[in-house]
Amino acid sequence: MIKPILTVENLTVTFETKYGKAVAVNDISFTLKKGEKLGLVGESGSGKSVTSKSILRLLQSPPAKVEGKIILGDTNLLDISEKEMRSYRGNKVTMIFQEPMVSLNPLFTIGDQLSEVINLHQKCSKKQCHQRVVDMLRTVGIPSPETRFKQYPFELSGGMRQRVMIAMALLCNPEVLIADEPTTALDVTIQAQIMDLLRKLNSDFNVSIILITHDLGVVAEMVDTVAVMYAGSIVEKASVREIFCDPKHPYTQGLLKSIPTMKNVEGDLETIEGNVPSIYKLPSGCAFNNRCKYKKSICTQEIPPTTVNGERWIKCWKCTDRWG
Ligand SMILES: Nc1ncnc2c1ncn2[C@@H]1O[C@H](COP(=O)(O)OP(=O)(O)OP(=O)(O)O)[C@@H](O)[C@H]1O
Ligand SMILES: [Mg+2]
Repeated sequence: MIKPILTVENLTVTFETKYGKAVAVNDISFTLKKGEKLGLVGESGSGKSVTSKSILRLLQSPPAKVEGKIILGDTNLLDISEKEMRSYRGNKVTMIFQEPMVSLNPLFTIGDQLSEVINLHQKCSKKQCHQRVVDMLRTVGIPSPETRFKQYPFELSGGMRQRVMIAMALLCNPEVLIADEPTTALDVTIQAQIMDLLRKLNSDFNVSIILITHDLGVVAEMVDTVAVMYAGSIVEKASVREIFCDPKHPYTQGLLKSIPTMKNVEGDLETIEGNVPSIYKLPSGCAFNNRCKYKKSICTQEIPPTTVNGERWIKCWKCTDRWG
């Protein structure tokens, strides 16, 4: 067995708000191997961004309370000081977001911002630093990197800015890159280029990637493993092939029926009836029970255990021997 590079164990994230306690992430576990590409999918509000921000400890606490373990190498990131965490963040594990303009400082040049990232974690001369930044801009497919080095964020297109963010994320040779909807703000051709770039970085540098996206088409093309989130839980995790060819969880089955394919493109797409439960008042038992056509009384009484079958994990009573 290859030791995973990242292990998330029983991660639970709650927010204490004036409306009450919200359970945004509810006891999730998963592992990521060196060089693996994991897709995290699920409807809006299912807890994907909260999960990724917890890994980098970017959630403000309070209101967030993060419990469980996030083990990178041999270190539980939830046990270390903020000072130690700073040496991990951006260095061993890093993240790119949906809107690159928000993460870039408009007042500094691209070159200055990228050089600062290097200086934060490593010592090198100004000349070496300049060279590394220019090389990295070239690696992520930015033409005329010497010119771009001197420009400000507003002088670049959205796609170029996202490439700069990827360059920034890669400058410290991270082991894990989390990409949270990295192409949502970009148009379709640019989206495809950015995805190609992520794929190339994964194959050339063996960076492990967690890709968060709504787009199941991107997931099908891009990742090795898929974790499906619903109301803060991972309801199913399996290889991309198993998820698409033989989904087991009723929610995954519904999710796949709701996307256009060559077969159903002319007919009506199916939707999953009912609504996602409120994270302020999760139902007892399985969080999906109010929408599930297979529901039995056990589904409303007890939270289903996770059935592990090799690399495949399913959190559904139907897949246990107590189903009958
Ligand atoms: N600071 C906060 N206080 C209270 N609730 C929060 C806070 N941050 C996030 N949440 C809630 O946690 C839940 C999960 O949010 P999250 O951003 O992880 O969803 P998501 O799966 O990334 O959705 P999307 O696909 O829309 O990005 C949501 O219901 C959200 O409203
Ligand atoms: Mg999100």
